[in-house]
Amino acid sequence: MKVFITRDIPEVAIDYLKKKKIDVKVFERRIPISKARLIKEVREADALIPLVTDKIDAEIIDAMTRCKVIANYAVGYNNIDYAYAKKKKIIVTNTPDVLTDSTADLTMALVLSCSRRLQEGKNLIEKNKFHGWHPKLLLGIELKDKTFGILGAGRIGTAVATRAKSFGTKIMYYSNHKNAFLDDKLGGKKVSLDKLLKNSDFLSINLPLNEKTHHLLDSQKLALLKRNAVLINTARGEIIDENALISLLRNKKIFAAGLDVFENEPNVNKELLKFDNVIVLPHIGSATVEARNKMAMLAAKNVSSVLEGKIPVTPI
Ligand code: DGY
Repeated sequence: MKVFITRDIPEVAIDYLKKKKIDVKVFERRIPISKARLIKEVREADALIPLVTDKIDAEIIDAMTRCKVIANYAVGYNNIDYAYAKKKKIIVTNTPDVLTDSTADLTMALVLSCSRRLQEGKNLIEKNKFHGWHPKLLLGIELKDKTFGILGAGRIGTAVATRAKSFGTKIMYYSNHKNAFLDDKLGGKKVSLDKLLKNSDFLSINLPLNEKTHHLLDSQKLALLKRNAVLINTARGEIIDENALISLLRNKKIFAAGLDVFENEPNVNKELLKFDNVIVLPHIGSATVEARNKMAMLAAKNVSSVLEGKIPVTPI
């Protein structure tokens, strides 16, 4: 049995697969694999471990004549034509739970960096413009008693809300389902999308990307945000209409934005880099040693389970 992995994932997973007597082939470069090469590799593989950067479309799936499982090395699986894989009877798995804490931690890092204007402070010092303590220098916004909006109250949204609550915020959320933990334990309130946007002082996007959430935050919805809102996106860039966000920022209609994801990754719209109050990060929500090791092990276990004829640990 052979598994093809499109990038160098943590060794624990490779060792695990080898112990299971599965042949492992890893794409040797640190850039996304070309489509032609991927097609060539999947033809000979019984399992594939791709990354979010690999688009697994119908053409690639058609080349998977032996492949039984696509074990995505990510919780989001918008990079995979899931319906087509299902039609072709290929199992698709992802890596939920294991990256929840790392992503929620990064969300709070962005919240605090934006609300306390850390980037502006660093820029000021670098430009030699710090002339000593001043009563009005870089005044930020406190979290206590503010409304913290959670857009998408799944695993990561719930973990973000738990952290935000410990800062004394009031939790509001928009979700298809009631979240009993948010309601009962955090005193959260489920509201409509418009109400969430109009009332949030802080807004964290924690939704999966699909046809319904693509550009969910378009210019009309973004215009509902408070003038002093802090917008954080650690989910998928395409959920926000980036051009609409840029014009919102240009017109100083929000306080700050913290973005770990972008519409056209790895290309980041250069306009976003012009704003002192926008913090941009290179999609590192799950980038902790702990999360990446666990993601690798989960993907490996999903592969070995399917190849051994068992039910995978985390099927989609
Ligand atoms: C995911 O898992 O979906 C992240 O975007 C990458 O860790």
